Amino acid sequence: MAARRRAGDDQLMTRQLIILTDPGQDQAAAILTILGRPDAFEVLGLVATAGNIGLDHTLGNCLKLLELAGRPDIPVFAGAPLPMRRDLVMAEHVHGPTGLDGPDLPTPAIRPQAQHGVDFIIETLRSRPEGSVTICGLSPLTNLALAFRIAPDIVPRVKEIVAMLGAYFELGNITPTAEFNCYVDPEAADVVLRSGLKITLLPLDVTHQMRSTRGRLDAFSALGNRSGRATDEMLTFSEAFDLKKYGWDGAPLHGPCVPAYMLAPEIFDGRTCAVEVELTGKLTQGMTVVDYWQITGKAHNAFWVRSGDANAYYRLITEAIGNLP
Ligand code: RIB
Repeated sequence: MAARRRAGDDQLMTRQLIILTDPGQDQAAAILTILGRPDAFEVLGLVATAGNIGLDHTLGNCLKLLELAGRPDIPVFAGAPLPMRRDLVMAEHVHGPTGLDGPDLPTPAIRPQAQHGVDFIIETLRSRPEGSVTICGLSPLTNLALAFRIAPDIVPRVKEIVAMLGAYFELGNITPTAEFNCYVDPEAADVVLRSGLKITLLPLDVTHQMRSTRGRLDAFSALGNRSGRATDEMLTFSEAFDLKKYGWDGAPLHGPCVPAYMLAPEIFDGRTCAVEVELTGKLTQGMTVVDYWQITGKAHNAFWVRSGDANAYYRLITEAIGNLP
């Protein structure tokens, strides 16, 4: 039976986050949601991933978003420019040539850190108390997997991983069987899923229920702040591809499901189960194979979120973004 996780003591504490991201308008909304809730999240740093668009753009987009949100103090690090073993597949067809098309955000004045993103992950996990840092995965998991391979000692030091990744009851979005974040770097997803850590996945199964209808997008602009207006403009741009593809009344809003889950797990449903990644299938590379019905008896390695309350979700993220400049 699907179970709801109750808000527990964890939800009352401020989470220290390392954010893995390749913004990407939906991920921009996720980052703004996080920054709008400083009571719940302390952002230790953003690690730019190659994914939706090349690393040069995702790095600059991270900087633009922090300036938009009035948080130039948060450090940004460049991660690897390529997946662990494959050529980079991007999603310009959804996100535009800059990856953050829609609003005209100014060229950022702030600069990225000189330290590599993988080294930042390793150093932070080694220097912070064990079990104090949550990995917020909005992108392919390349840089986390590289950190785990370079420094296996940091793995048990992670509090937990909450990531937007995979699809099972929903079909794939970049191939008929694979979700984009997993497809771009399936080897990285495999390393992370085998880590033995507490992992919560927000797959297309749930993100496809979180549709950005016009009314929901208008609510961002109605906030009257620059972050709300930019969110509306970003998502209005990026939704065009999905509206045509799916024919729905709104496009799926993927990224903010990650912070929303950390803020209010009780609005989501799912269950722990065995989740594996197909690495060699001719037609199924990057597919998340989920033993949701417990057929194999394999050890459970992730909490798989299958559904959620869309109205509560949009209330949560809109309220958070309303706290920003
Ligand atoms: O499949 C959805 C994911 O792929 C989101 O993170 C979106 O930004 C794209 O990267």
